[in-house]
Amino acid sequence: MTNTTTNIPGERDLIAAFNTLKKEKNAVLLAHYYQDGEIQDMADFIGDSLALAQQAAKTDADIIVFSGVVFMGETAKIVSPGKKVLVPDMNAGCSLADNCPADEFSAFIAQHPGHTVVSYVNCSAEVKALSDILCTSTNAEKIIRSIPEDTPIIFGPDKHLGSYLAKKLGRPMVLWNGSCMVHELFDEKRIVKLQALHPEAEVIAHPECPEAILAHATHIGSTSSLLEYTKKSAAQEFIVVTESGIIHQMKKAHPEKTFYPAPSDETCGCSQCPYMRLNTIEKLYLCLRDETPEITLPEDLMVKALKPLARMLELS
Ligand code: 13P
Ligand code: SF4
Repeated sequence: MTNTTTNIPGERDLIAAFNTLKKEKNAVLLAHYYQDGEIQDMADFIGDSLALAQQAAKTDADIIVFSGVVFMGETAKIVSPGKKVLVPDMNAGCSLADNCPADEFSAFIAQHPGHTVVSYVNCSAEVKALSDILCTSTNAEKIIRSIPEDTPIIFGPDKHLGSYLAKKLGRPMVLWNGSCMVHELFDEKRIVKLQALHPEAEVIAHPECPEAILAHATHIGSTSSLLEYTKKSAAQEFIVVTESGIIHQMKKAHPEKTFYPAPSDETCGCSQCPYMRLNTIEKLYLCLRDETPEITLPEDLMVKALKPLARMLELS
């Protein structure tokens, strides 16, 4: 059924209409684990930020519809400049990327001459272009280890991931003062209370969490690492300290296990990323139908940002 005022198919038909357009236009839908379960189920490929970048680099589709946040769409465009990259909502930012303006990051780098600049991919294309190498939470340890011991490192923009890596690898780094608003808001006291209610549950956490939260975790890792851990662990219950979208795949893999989304502070009990959740099936349909919003970046910026991205992909 079609909504005649807007020419948008009714809710039930939207997915079918999207799939028809996808076939007609030789498009592919890539979705991050933090998307709504319905969107994850529609996707041709679901993954963490590294796997999605790798997929974007190797797809032979003409159009990439990227259901995640804008910095991920930009990464896809940089590794696949010949493709059209569409995103459902250009307002899908990221607190890490937004709080690391390129001019300030450039001044920060200038204050620390001789340092190798390692940036978490959760940053703008401009910040990527200022970096020597990029990393995701999946490959960060490998990337840091690849840098000679005597070379000082600047790590940005996530101070929590940076200090987690510095401590784990015994490698002090100069950290940019940024954080993820979702992981920053998890409430330690409420997590401890939840643990008391479910004493058999294992706490698993993303390294974007502050150190005090990570101290409670049995396993720390990227979204894909957390997912793999829940598949392998003998535990039947988990307190999941990351964006709750990942629980969709955890439940699909092990419906008999129980997953508790970690509580955030009183101001927000949702543990959902407000940017990731801007994406809807209707917006996915519209962006593919109208081929907008499209990620476009200046050619020279893409060339500069590709260097540290390619270095990361080679090492991954
Ligand atoms: P990963 O999927 O790489 O673990 O990243 C998490 C994240 O915050 C993406 O925004
Ligand atoms: Fe950015 Fe955090 Fe949202 Fe990921 S979860 S997109 S790091 S604000």
